[in-house]
Amino acid sequence: MPLSPPVAARIADLLNTQNQLTVRYTPEAVLQDEERYLICSGENSELMGVVEAKLVQWYQCEIDHLSVHPEFTRKGVGSRLLKAAEDRARQLGARIAQCTIRVGNTASEGLFKKYGYWPTATFRNEQTGNKVTVYQKILKTEMYHTSGPGCRAKIITDYASWTVLSALRSGAPIKSRRDVYPLLRTVDFGALLQQSTPPISEGQFDAWHEAATLSLCERRTDLCTGWAAKMLNVYLKTAVYAGGLGRSGLAAALHPPIDSGLWSGLRRRFKGHALLTKTHIVERIKDIRDYPTYQTIVAGCRLAAEKLNCLSIEVEQLWEGVDLE
Ligand SMILES: CC(C)(COP(=O)(O)OP(=O)(O)OC[C@H]1O[C@@H](n2cnc3c(N)ncnc32)[C@H](O)[C@@H]1OP(=O)(O)O)[C@@H](O)C(=O)NCCC(=O)NCCS
Repeated sequence: MPLSPPVAARIADLLNTQNQLTVRYTPEAVLQDEERYLICSGENSELMGVVEAKLVQWYQCEIDHLSVHPEFTRKGVGSRLLKAAEDRARQLGARIAQCTIRVGNTASEGLFKKYGYWPTATFRNEQTGNKVTVYQKILKTEMYHTSGPGCRAKIITDYASWTVLSALRSGAPIKSRRDVYPLLRTVDFGALLQQSTPPISEGQFDAWHEAATLSLCERRTDLCTGWAAKMLNVYLKTAVYAGGLGRSGLAAALHPPIDSGLWSGLRRRFKGHALLTKTHIVERIKDIRDYPTYQTIVAGCRLAAEKLNCLSIEVEQLWEGVDLE
């Protein structure tokens, strides 16, 4: 809907009063780019908040100057506007949402982090001495968070996230929902789960997996390769193998989640077999410290799958974590 000049004036005023700007907004400037602004109004049409969403690359949307009138803060207005800005970003075809926050703006840092934004770099402005941090969020996985046919996918992917949380209960360096869910949101599962995209080969999946594992380890330096890979593998086991989501060929390429239950099952089933020199190159998740070690274990699991005449993910049938004896 086109903005009227009085509304544009209120938007400019709110942006100017709520942000420490070097260039002030004018009603004319707001009207000139009116399609960028998303607003939240109260019952009496009062302006509660505003945000700007603009495409800066075909894949990247900048979310700027999210501002809530002081009378309405901590009532969820900022959250609603941020979600609306992300919806707009997706409509524009963006895969990444990005915002820049002044270091020490705890309200804004708290809000964006709550919704899965990750700090990527901090810069100091030489002229003002201010420091700003650039935050980003991958939007693609959220394509499953829609109604209609996407509803089943949303249920499955939510459940997949919960299974990751559950799998991290014992021994993992991160365990809480606050740590696990935002971290999972940084992973581009959408590249794998979007059924409309072409079939995926084992090599393509392996390349995706390596990049995703290393990215998790970079974001959380307390996560070793073994735990990061386990998070991805548990999620994909639930979403793809159990839930039936994903590109053609994906289930055949998946890796089983590697942990003590699988190691003991493999040892029992393949006692004396050479493949154990690969699968058991280490025997604790925390000892899988680099990706080549992990690849050796996966290669062993693929050999086991050949022997069992099943998919690699199905090597997990040997998992003994459910045994009570
Ligand atoms: C940042 C801002 C937009 C938040 O708007 P809001 O409507 O109060 O946000 P919400 O009520 O939706 O809060 C959502 C989450 O944000 C975080 N948050 C909001 N205000 C916070 C504060 N003062 N301190 C710490 N965290 C805060 C919390 O995680 C909160 O979740 P919770 O209520 O479950 O704890 C608002 O404070 C504002 O307009 N600030 C001034 C303008 C500004 O600096 N904008 C940022 C430009 S990048």
